[in-house]
Amino acid sequence: MTLRTNLTAVSALTVSLCFAAPALADPPHLEAKGDTQQLIVNGKPMLMIAGELSNSASSSAAYMEPHWKRLKDMNLDTVLTPVSWELIEPTEGTFDWSSVDSQIKAARANGLKLVVLWFGAWKNSMSTYVPAWVKRDQQRFPRAQLPNGQGVEILSTFGAETLKADERAYAALMAHLKAVDSKDNTVVMVQVENEIGMLPVARDYSAAANAAYREPVPAELVDYLVAHKDVLVPGMRRMWLERGARTSGSWDDLFGGGDASAEVFAAWHYARFADQLAAAGKAAYPIPMYVNVALNRPGRIPGEYPSGGPLPHLLDVWKAGGPHLDFLAPDIYFPNFVDIVNGYKRRDNVLFIPEAHNASNPVAAANAFYAIGQLDAIGFGPFSIDSVDEEPGGLKDAYGVLQQLKPYILDAQGSDRMVGFKPRQLYDETLVYEPETRDVGPYRFTIAYADIQKPVANPGADASQPGTTAAIAAAGGMIIQTGPEEYLIAGQGITVTFKPRADASALAGIDSAWEGHYDAAGKWVAQRRLNGDQTHQGRHIRLGTGQWQIQRLKLYTYK
Ligand code: DGJ
Repeated sequence: MTLRTNLTAVSALTVSLCFAAPALADPPHLEAKGDTQQLIVNGKPMLMIAGELSNSASSSAAYMEPHWKRLKDMNLDTVLTPVSWELIEPTEGTFDWSSVDSQIKAARANGLKLVVLWFGAWKNSMSTYVPAWVKRDQQRFPRAQLPNGQGVEILSTFGAETLKADERAYAALMAHLKAVDSKDNTVVMVQVENEIGMLPVARDYSAAANAAYREPVPAELVDYLVAHKDVLVPGMRRMWLERGARTSGSWDDLFGGGDASAEVFAAWHYARFADQLAAAGKAAYPIPMYVNVALNRPGRIPGEYPSGGPLPHLLDVWKAGGPHLDFLAPDIYFPNFVDIVNGYKRRDNVLFIPEAHNASNPVAAANAFYAIGQLDAIGFGPFSIDSVDEEPGGLKDAYGVLQQLKPYILDAQGSDRMVGFKPRQLYDETLVYEPETRDVGPYRFTIAYADIQKPVANPGADASQPGTTAAIAAAGGMIIQTGPEEYLIAGQGITVTFKPRADASALAGIDSAWEGHYDAAGKWVAQRRLNGDQTHQGRHIRLGTGQWQIQRLKLYTYK
């Protein structure tokens, strides 16, 4: 290289250092990786080891003051926190950002990220978080009505002014987040409304809603159903495909009439409303936006549960009506966690669990391991986390293990190098805990949940006592392949055996097994080398009941 070109290169570098504007990372967004999507924040993949605040916590900076540090100490990295319309726009057109800014400041000071929950037109079906100037003006902001004309405290989706006002407030919030946070990206995602759905009947029966119900089903919905007819959810197959897959007609013609059609209609209009909000918000600041759902109890009719939310049987309606929504997210308070999350993890829907059983519920941690390990969930957040942030043990230890594993989890997302497992529970709490198999790299793993050293499943409610059904329900873990024959096994209450996959006549043995942990710098700190009784003389890996832990395992094959 000549002196001349060297100088040119140096001066070009100087110019770029002096005059280029500081590069802002892209805003938080979802990015495809293998067969899943990852959340990218500050240019790097992120896993949300999270918890959601109780509803009124974030309305008071003073109330929250001691909690931020406790949540960090509990090994959370993300807090889901409400921002309510009534607090940010107490007077129409005048915004007060103090409740938002104080949260961002406190989160940053404690090294936490935030998912903002927009409590706008609807929160748990109802419209109680709207400002008083909305509540009190029923003419301008019409209520949904019962068939007898009685209004409910739920805004109608058919109020044009309601959409305009909610959209303006939401877009103002997103513009504010862009102004104060696009450099730091403390806020990584936003939830649009909270647990949308009509109560106590299947749909709004106001005059405007009844008129809309008499209109034909919109072409956008029909086109979506036709284009996706081979992959519709079972509920929509039954309602539409198996009833003749009609492509024009009324809601009753296409979906069978009665509450079923009324619920599809409600879902469509809620989805369109939420989608328009998301579009307006993204125009201001395009970060991931999702809608959460209150799941329905089996055997209940729409209206007995919030009708028309993004429920398992209505996912297609919401996908058709909500193209600006990045994903639909289940709030899971029912025991059949495994079945529910498998329905929400789809090619077109990354898994995120914004709410789940409170962190003191013994199954919470195993649910997190399953969702993250088996289904590449981007995050998990038990509800009312501020009410349990002083309780010892439980989620704190499990979250500590997830924090240690985070780089390995993020690296393995979207590949077949990571699996998760936990006993399946049915809705009626029946526990299905037969051993399960998972193939990872060259080995097939069999995971047993009944603690091998206390093999009898005693009926019992104490999850810390090996062998009780409560302990088995709380068992679970994940396996991540880190080398050709190397694995991290993490969890509790499990016994793991292994076999080579390629050759049925071959056997697998333990080359080495270590217990240990990753330190703050991510360096493995080995503790005991496990052998003898701890591995049943080389036959298995055991992670005992009651202590979330990591073991590093290297296998070999012999004949
Ligand atoms: C689900 C809601 O989304 C939360 O805001 C909260 O009301 C919980 N239910 C209460 O269990």
